[in-house]
Amino acid sequence: MRSLFRRIRNLARQWSRAPAGAAQTVGGSSSPTVAALPGGWTDYMTWLSFANAGMLERGNVDAFDFVIRNLPGPAPMLEIGSFCGLSTNVITHLKEKYAVKNRLVTCDRWVFEGALPAAGVGGSPFLTHAQYRDFVRGSYIRYIRNIQTFARYDLPYTLEMVSDDFFAAWTQRQTTTDVLGRSVELGGPISFCYIDGNHSYDFVERDFSHVDQFLEPGGFILFDDSRDGSAWEVCQVVAEVKSGGRYDVVAANPNYLFRKK
Ligand SMILES: C[S@@+](CC[C@H](N)C(=O)[O-])C[C@H]1O[C@@H](n2cnc3c(N)ncnc32)[C@H](O)[C@@H]1O
Repeated sequence: MRSLFRRIRNLARQWSRAPAGAAQTVGGSSSPTVAALPGGWTDYMTWLSFANAGMLERGNVDAFDFVIRNLPGPAPMLEIGSFCGLSTNVITHLKEKYAVKNRLVTCDRWVFEGALPAAGVGGSPFLTHAQYRDFVRGSYIRYIRNIQTFARYDLPYTLEMVSDDFFAAWTQRQTTTDVLGRSVELGGPISFCYIDGNHSYDFVERDFSHVDQFLEPGGFILFDDSRDGSAWEVCQVVAEVKSGGRYDVVAANPNYLFRKK
């Protein structure tokens, strides 16, 4: 993440242009696509997002809603990049709404990408990147509090790891301890992954390859910040997935939701 500020500014711009549920029709693909996802945003989410800090595109909520109603089976769902738990809590709420029991497993190490060692944040003489890093690290505490409040009836399993380490542990089918001190067995097929960690090409490409290895046929991947015209490098990965022919585009809402053939 180049900076939290840039991210918030981009989100604010997106929201001002694209109200919730304003899905785009996906052109240029022989794959079956959903022209517009039904709106998944509810009053509950409005209240949740007032209190729970986060960076969640509203259209992603429509995508979560679609995914959770169309999961291919009982395999776990993954989230890469939890921050303060907004998307985690939305997914948990939708699980409850649709009586879905798939385990939700998430990972984050609460370190933003791209911080410079010396310079002030965004040129500020008052806030160093070290101070900023400490503050971001505090989102770990907020995450725990947020899931214990909003997802206490169905707590996700969260590993304090970057996604490369997480997938290494998943591949080795490790039994490890989550941020709440619970034992969790990793490994096996997955039904959905929300990719919202480091947005640079190399990271997203590796996240995709790892997910692809474990995703069941009929399973879903949602790439955050992948809307057409987005400057994030995740779009290069999305272009590769589209041209690879092994995934259907379900929707660009405006971020890309894929289903494995
Ligand atoms: C955009 S935020 C996630 C927003 C969150 N999903 C929400 O709903 O508010 C990105 C998060 O990804 C985490 N992150 C960055 N690089 C990562 C990596 N390699 N693996 C896992 N998480 C990563 C950051 O610490 C940050 O909390």
